[in-house]
Parts: sequence; structure tokens; C-alpha cells
Amino acid sequence: MGLKWNRTPQETRVPGYPSSGGDSRLDSFFVSETAAPPRTRPTATMDRRLKRTSMLLTMILSAAVALGLSLSGSRAQQPAAPPKTAPTFYRDVLPILQGHCQQCHRAGGIAPMAFETYAQLKPYAAAVKVATQTKSMPPWFADPEVGKFLNDPSLSEQEIATLSAWADSGAPAGRSDEASAPRVWTENWTIPQPDLVLKMPQPVRLPAGGDIEYTYEIVPTHFTEGRWVQMAEVLPARRGNVHHAVVYVRPPDSSWLRHAPVGVPFTASALGDPADRASAMWTDSDILLVYAPGSSPDMWPESMAKYVPAGADLVFQMHYTATGTATEDQTSVGLRFAKQPPPQRVLTLQLTNDHFVIPPGAPNYRVEARGTLPNDAVLLSFFPHMHLRGKSFEYNLVRHGKARGGAPQNPAAVGFEPLLRVHYHFHWQMSYRLATPMHLAAGTELQAVAWFDNSRDNPHNPDPDVAVRWGEQTYDEMMVGFFDVAVDARLDKRSFFVRH
Ligand code: HEC
Repeated sequence: MGLKWNRTPQETRVPGYPSSGGDSRLDSFFVSETAAPPRTRPTATMDRRLKRTSMLLTMILSAAVALGLSLSGSRAQQPAAPPKTAPTFYRDVLPILQGHCQQCHRAGGIAPMAFETYAQLKPYAAAVKVATQTKSMPPWFADPEVGKFLNDPSLSEQEIATLSAWADSGAPAGRSDEASAPRVWTENWTIPQPDLVLKMPQPVRLPAGGDIEYTYEIVPTHFTEGRWVQMAEVLPARRGNVHHAVVYVRPPDSSWLRHAPVGVPFTASALGDPADRASAMWTDSDILLVYAPGSSPDMWPESMAKYVPAGADLVFQMHYTATGTATEDQTSVGLRFAKQPPPQRVLTLQLTNDHFVIPPGAPNYRVEARGTLPNDAVLLSFFPHMHLRGKSFEYNLVRHGKARGGAPQNPAAVGFEPLLRVHYHFHWQMSYRLATPMHLAAGTELQAVAWFDNSRDNPHNPDPDVAVRWGEQTYDEMMVGFFDVAVDARLDKRSFFVRH
């Protein structure tokens, strides 16, 4: 059926796509997975982990600047002149915080300190100047030369200059009557008040230390009819312990984890049924959303939504990390439903390569995956995923040139159009939403390329002396290029892969 597979010498395969040979069987969807710090390292609190992250980032960024490779690329224009009078907190700084920082720096947000009031920000004035000038804050890893993204929180040069000038002039408060109205956050939700909150019925007990096996909890929706989800957000009860969460939509006719208990936490190794045990990591269920530190909730445009069929269950797949204190988590997902059935349905697909072997010490090892879309789709967003040796990640459109005179394809005339290029950072798993969704015709080939640093120079490398393969623990590696597409609302993930 014309489904193309491109096997590179590195044995690339694309489990998100039907297998070669042209059958339209849907096989081998990987369960997404992000992982804990390696077990050789003492468990640290999230704050400390992130602190190291930001120091590292600052180092990377300064190194890049020193080499003239500023990440800001085209944006590195003349620094804008600061405002004539010294900027004040209420008039000039607060609006920047509301627009670019408070999604994390607020009471209950993922950052360790809130930036909602003058008293909260003042002690950080100098740190804010440094963090914004080096672009370690707000966190964002996309190469600005490639693509434009809706959720890019980056500051303009003007805004950076304003924050610096404010810090340099003694961080004045200014007149509080000039303050913009406080930005209101719904409890801890970033999306507006959800129409429905589905919470794990039973809390998961978390030990103080050690590796924690992936924990699942199946949460029935009790939907008597299919529902269209316009926005979705994962809200952990213990943010510091949740390294990632993936919420799957298990339709009632799916056999995935069918013998597993419902409404109680379990791990794959504890399952009695061998088929369930073996398939815990493999499903063709669609993903509702992926959560990781720094990721933002899913909010689809009016005309599109994710679909949850009647009788479906949500399967929470949780990767917890121990933080030194025994505790409990009971994660929720908040849903806002579309007002009417949308014309388009959002599916999460993936380009995955699980056949690589990264040699010991390799500083820049390249792994790629390709796949061809069986049907028309509108490309919406990306979510690259690797582990501790991840270095950078790229998505490209593959353009096959035709030889003159309508001759068959000339393989030499292949062009790659970059869609996203990121400096990968394990501690910040982010989605990148295209500012302008892109129509891709059936037959369009997509490529994902990952680079891994297995050298000693990678400060996160748990062991530079071993060859590294695919595996679920962080000392193994993964190469998954998730991407979201909008398709005709009548299609589901299975039928999308049948060419019509
Ligand atoms: C996506 C979430 C997120 C956003 C958006 C964000 N921060 Fe942060 N920020 C964090 C987290 C988490 C930390 C703590 C860990 C760390 O130090 O990296 C932090 C730490 C900081 C620090 C401490 C110093 C440092 O660099 O470690 C400063 C200063 C800071 N942020 C300023 C800002 C400012 C100013 C903005 C907006 C312009 C902003 N942040 C936006 C998540 C965020």
C-alpha cells in the first residue's frame, strides 16, 4: 500500500508506522517514557537537580556565546535601548513576569520560588538579570533559526534590557497604582477551570529512596458517549516526585492491560498475566497527553480536539523518582471539553528508532528514524524524547526531487527541510507547538534525527565506558520523536494508517 520504509545502515525503523511489506497492520507503538536520574547517583530533590541544570545551561550558553554560536542567532540584533526613565516593578517588570515567568514562578507552580509580588522578586533582581541575559530563563531550547513556535516563552531583547536596567537601578518598586491586574491562576491549573477532573482513585505510595519501577493506574472515565477534549493538563499531587506522566486513552475494545486491576496502582512486573506483563510498554492506544517538568498543558485550537470514546479508560503511566522522603502521590488530569464536535481530531504519532548502539565515548552519535504519512495530516507540534546522553534532536521534512522529464525519483536529489532543531536537555522535556500548523499531504516523509553524547564531557553521562542501547532506564537510551497531527475527525489512530 505504498508505505515507505527507509532503512539506513543503522537499522532505522519506525514503530509508529505500519511495518514494511505494505500491510496496514498497526504495530509496535512505544509507550513513551522519561526516566529518573541514574541509580548510581544519590537521589536529589528536584530543586537541586534543576539547580544543576540551570548552572549547566548557563555554562552551555556562555560557551556558545564565546564561540560566536549564540543560541539567539538571528535574534542577536543590537540590544534595544532601555527605557529613558528607570523601569519600575509595577509598571515595567510585572507585565513581563505575568507573560513569561508566572506559569512556573507562582504559588503552586513548578519553580521553587514565586514571582508574583514585589517582595518576592526583589531579592532575585540580580539573578533575574543574569538568567535572562544568558537566556537560561525562561527555559527554551529551540534553535531560533528554525521554525516559529506558539509556546516560545522567550523574551524580546527589549524585555531583557528592561529587566537588566531595573536590576541595575536598584530594583525600584515604582507606583503600585500602575500595576497591571494580577494574573489569575485557577487553583493549580494552568488551563482554565477544567470541566472534569479525573484523579487516580488510589494514592501511590513512594519510598524515600531507590529506583521506582514505572507505576500504572487505570482510571475509568465512565463516559457513556464519546467526548472531545479541547484542553488537558496533568496535575501531580507531588510535583517533585513525578518525573514524567503519560496519560493514554484505552478504548473499550483494546486488549491492552486487560487483566490488570482498575483503580489501583500497579507495576508491570507485579502483573499476573504474562501477556499484560509483556505488553505494558507496548500499546496502540492514543496518548491524551505527556507531562514532564517544564512541559505545558495541551490546548488545541477550536477546530480540533482529542477524542475519548465512550467506555474508555485513562491509563496513567507514571515515572516517579524518590526525593529522600517517603510520600504519596495522587495525580489528576483536568479536561475541558469542546463545545461542539470539531472537524479535526488530534493524534499523537511517533518516529522511533530502537535499534541503535551508541559506542563508548562517542561524543556526537547520530541516530535517525523516518516514516511516511499514509494520509493527509496537519502537523501541529513536536515532543522529542531521549535520556541522559541526549544532545540534540531535529525533525525534518524529506523532499524527494524528481529527475528531469518525469523520470523516476532521483535518490540523489533529496532535500531536508528543518522543522525543529533543539539542544536537548533531559531535565526539561518540552513540546514545541508550531505557530502555523503545516499541511502535509499523504506520502510526505518525515525524518527525526537524534545526537547522543556518550563522552566524558557530558556531565550527565552515567557511564562513558559502555555501549548504550534502547532501554527504559535512564542509563539506557531512547530515541522518540513524538509529533501531533490533526486528521479528519472520523479517523482514529488505526484507520489513519490505512491508506484511503
Ligand atoms: C517553564 C517553567 C519556567 C519558566 C517559564 C520560568 N522559569 Fe525561572 N525557573 C524555573 C525553575 C524550575 C527554576 C529552578 C531551577 C533552576 O534553577 O533551574 C527556575 C529558576 C529561576 C531563577 C533562579 C536562578 C537560576 O537561573 O537558577 C531565576 C532568576 C529565574 N528562574 C527567573 C525566571 C524569569 C525572570 C522568568 C521569566 C522571564 C522565568 N524564570 C521563567 C522554571 C521556570
